[in-house]
Amino acid sequence: MTKTYRLPLVGTSWKMNKTTSEALAYLERLQQRLKGQSAVSVFILPAFTALTEARGFLRSSKSNIMLGSQNAHWDDAGAFTGEVSVPMLKEIGCRFVEINHQERRHWFGETDETANWKIRAALRHGLSPIICLGEEKREGWPEVESFLRNQLARLLQDVDEEEAAGVILAYEPRWAIGAAEAAPPSHVELVHTMLRQLLTEKYNASVAKAIPILYGGSVNLQNTAELIALTEVDGLFVGRAALDADGFAQLVEIAGETYK
Ligand code: PGA
Repeated sequence: MTKTYRLPLVGTSWKMNKTTSEALAYLERLQQRLKGQSAVSVFILPAFTALTEARGFLRSSKSNIMLGSQNAHWDDAGAFTGEVSVPMLKEIGCRFVEINHQERRHWFGETDETANWKIRAALRHGLSPIICLGEEKREGWPEVESFLRNQLARLLQDVDEEEAAGVILAYEPRWAIGAAEAAPPSHVELVHTMLRQLLTEKYNASVAKAIPILYGGSVNLQNTAELIALTEVDGLFVGRAALDADGFAQLVEIAGETYK
């Protein structure tokens, strides 16, 4: 898959926030603020309901901001009431699909297995899965390492080298999501370095090296510079701090200035 973005990659999922009119007002403001910036690739994952109009706005304003969804079903079509498939998302201009966020696991019973099916569905149709992964609780290093090793293996099961070029990882430890503080930078660096190593064991070096590894979990204006400067951190995945367009624009600017 040819990559349509450069690093760093900084994005947000709005989770279950923003009606379509709110989404459009936000995008208008963000586009105004980010016009002309090209240092950072920016993506937004709105609710399904806002995707089509968001796409229309971004296209008509010739924006570089990219769109994706927060979930998708693993089948292309069928009797799955309430679900949305990857071909439906592709047709309306999504390039990314977020998969395996902790909230989906916690509230909607998502598992490594169903996440793997969704990841493969996204890749089959040429969309990039933003694959969230991370330990559930704060533990010592051997536990964290073995948890992530197993989780990554299950999530990427049967994803071949060619498909892997489309993958994006987002390290999001559950204990740092919606928390008072992000994971400590030393921990983030250790985990990202380990994830890169695991990718290198599975795929050839150039494919493994090109898979972006984002950090997510309580990213904010105060910690953006420190987090984006860490080794093997290729971008940030932002929740609360990106719900306001001006705040997110500022965060993107900081990321662009600091990333090397
Ligand atoms: P937060 O959310 O930035 O509000 O902690 C992050 C996430 O859930 O990805």
